[in-house]
Amino acid sequence: MSEDLLQRLKVQGSVPAHVAIIMDGNGRWAKGRALPRPLGHHAGMRAVREVIQGCLDAGVGVLTLFAFSQENWQRPAIEIDALMSLLEEYITRELDNLRAKSVEVHVLGEVSRLAPGAQQAVDRVMAETAGGRDLALNLCISYSSRAEITRAARQLAEDVAAGRLEVSEIGEDALARRLYTAPWPDPDLLIRTSGEMRISNFLLWQLAYAELYVTPVLWPDFTRRHLFEAILEFQRRDRRFGRVSV
Ligand code: FPP
Repeated sequence: MSEDLLQRLKVQGSVPAHVAIIMDGNGRWAKGRALPRPLGHHAGMRAVREVIQGCLDAGVGVLTLFAFSQENWQRPAIEIDALMSLLEEYITRELDNLRAKSVEVHVLGEVSRLAPGAQQAVDRVMAETAGGRDLALNLCISYSSRAEITRAARQLAEDVAAGRLEVSEIGEDALARRLYTAPWPDPDLLIRTSGEMRISNFLLWQLAYAELYVTPVLWPDFTRRHLFEAILEFQRRDRRFGRVSV
């Protein structure tokens, strides 16, 4: 039933090469149903499946999802444990499907902070989906954009100190090559669900020229159709990258 929108976006304009999503509103979704918050996160898994399929159908090459921020470590232990178990459950349940659909999974963030079981699951999904060609799926877990930029700056300093790099060679490209996202183009479109008008320490460098799309829909309710609506809106934007319209 979202095929009409899919056909429209294919003829209306170019599809974003890279879509990034802040998946927000799981807690509110659960609260609205008088359910515990972890059940909201669990319901959010269905929406993850929807957007992966939507990206494959539309021809989006890179999908980056903000699944767990470094700030989220401050949530109650019971919620953190539920999110870690969910990550393992997601990987166990979806691995075959992701491989069959030629999705290559990457996990971006401070993975060393994850519980051993979650770390093993992450290593497994990355190893077993390596080489997938139809979609790069980046899961940002224990991720902070400021920490990512600081890490890149530290690597630049180490490279200079070790004589591998000249100070004069430090430019935007040199820094960008040291970000987790080095292999991919910057996101063209950022979607945030549940209505908050914030970037929340997500891809601060990479979102410099992204089009922003905020929807009131709570993440567990987000569907392929909502993704296509966001892409259609993106195609109506006039992207100038600081220049004037042609
Ligand atoms: C924000 O909602 C969402 C999260 C912190 C977790 C996102 C996780 C998933 C969608 C789970 C499945 C994904 C994978 C890849 C395993 P919130 O809790 O901040 O919601 P609220 O603002 O309504 O409280």
